Amino acid sequence: MNMESSDHQTSGFSTPIGTRRRFFQWATGAAASIIALGLGVPLIGFLIAPAFQRRAQSWVDVGGVDDLPIGKPAQLDYKQTVKEGWRTTAVHKGVWAVKRQDGQVTVFSPICTHLGCGFNWDGADRNFKCPCHGSVFAMDGAVLGGPAPRPLDELPSKVENGRLLVMYKEFKAGLPKKVEL
Ligand code: FES
Repeated sequence: MNMESSDHQTSGFSTPIGTRRRFFQWATGAAASIIALGLGVPLIGFLIAPAFQRRAQSWVDVGGVDDLPIGKPAQLDYKQTVKEGWRTTAVHKGVWAVKRQDGQVTVFSPICTHLGCGFNWDGADRNFKCPCHGSVFAMDGAVLGGPAPRPLDELPSKVENGRLLVMYKEFKAGLPKKVEL
């Protein structure tokens, strides 16, 4: 009876000292895990969040409104700095601006709504033509012919202090409705 009691006491697990030691080891490990999780989750979020952010959009000055011809689309090229995730790159863009008799300006994306080719202005026929599959668009963007499923995509634009500002956006090609990428 006495021997049993002595073995029991020296096993290291069931003595008050052994039990307390294990408890403190467990508690220290749990606290360290909680701290690591508390620090690690925000850090991982901080590192990977930019990769999932949509490309930042901003107004871009594409030129003076007075310089635009009336009733004749003008292709305006500009350079823009784009921040995508952690990467910042300078990209060249071009948009089509149409200034009407009343001075109002409409800006179109340069991408054909059929499958994404670039289109041109045909001065003789006075319409936009896509060289890829023959879509034809009127000066106001309406589809006149070919496989294009929707009119040209209008971009947000505004005039400030005589300057034309445009917000460049891209839309999915091949759909009857505008869906922003
Ligand atoms: S991409 Fe323009 S007509 Fe097909």
